[in-house]
Amino acid sequence: MSAFIRHRRLRINEQIRSLVRENHVQLEDLVYPIFVMEGTDIRKEVPSMPGVFQYSLDRLHEEIDEVVQLGISSVLVFGVPLHKDERGSQADHNHGIVQEAIRYLKQQYPSLYVIADTCLCEYTSHGHCGIVENGEVLNDPSLERMVSTAVSQARAGADMIAPSNMMDGFVYAIRKGLDEAGFEQIPIMSYAVKYASGFYGPFRDAAHSTPEFGDRRSYQMDPANAREAMREAASDVAEGADLLIVKPGLAYLDIVRRVRERFDLPVVAYNVSGEYSMVKAAALNGWIDEKKIVMESMVSFKRAGADMIITYHAKDIARWLKKANHR
Ligand code: PBG
Repeated sequence: MSAFIRHRRLRINEQIRSLVRENHVQLEDLVYPIFVMEGTDIRKEVPSMPGVFQYSLDRLHEEIDEVVQLGISSVLVFGVPLHKDERGSQADHNHGIVQEAIRYLKQQYPSLYVIADTCLCEYTSHGHCGIVENGEVLNDPSLERMVSTAVSQARAGADMIAPSNMMDGFVYAIRKGLDEAGFEQIPIMSYAVKYASGFYGPFRDAAHSTPEFGDRRSYQMDPANAREAMREAASDVAEGADLLIVKPGLAYLDIVRRVRERFDLPVVAYNVSGEYSMVKAAALNGWIDEKKIVMESMVSFKRAGADMIITYHAKDIARWLKKANHR
């Protein structure tokens, strides 16, 4: 036996490196978030998210034709309504922007898997994710709103419901509501572990959902806590979640790993807006190699144990993967 171990034997050329590679980024694992705005003739770049656009329904095909052609199989739909009020009436309106968008997508692109983000913050005048009374975000009255929003999205044809408002009991309530409405086949991808994070900043530009007062720390989690994440995930599993999201992603890979090890449901990492914007900004300055950084981040999600990744980089990744396959 030699005196030391030669690890480099398995790194000598690309053939052996790819033979022993442990994790892979596949297009099949990616979900692309889209922002659909009420109005007409809108294609507006989100200033803090270069490459990400808000579309009105009449121009949405420009985006989705490309998404489908690139081989991305799934989108996460966010609606940006014109009219907002205290209780977020547009969130569960049959002809709300998100319901119309879902209907359109399922009609025009039947093979596209359409996931609805279910929350109130894009629809409420105060920008909070639930019903507010005396400056407090109420739990149980908000559940009712979440249920009717989820059911209206299911009626519009959503393939999957992704509730993100972090009220206690939302998975239980939505599962019951979907079942009673005859949607027992529609899975719930719960934002099970969602931190009160500064990394959502650019998203709030995109979805117009910045809270008017206060912050979300009474319902989203404290970034300092990891054991609490296990309790959040456990309750969602018990309430009937089918997939578990950890959000944000990159600064929380320890949590992705812990959820992976503790639970057997598919684990989804949300590579959020702030993570995207930081990479884009540095890349546009020529300070980093965008493709390398993005692909390394993606394989890190996989290595941490994520089965799926929600990412604004999905279209770029699809292009890079395509190129690599044609080499
Ligand atoms: C809605 C919601 C948010 C995000 C996804 N769903 C914003 C928030 O909680 O403030 C953030 C996504 C991102 O930053 O990319 N509650």
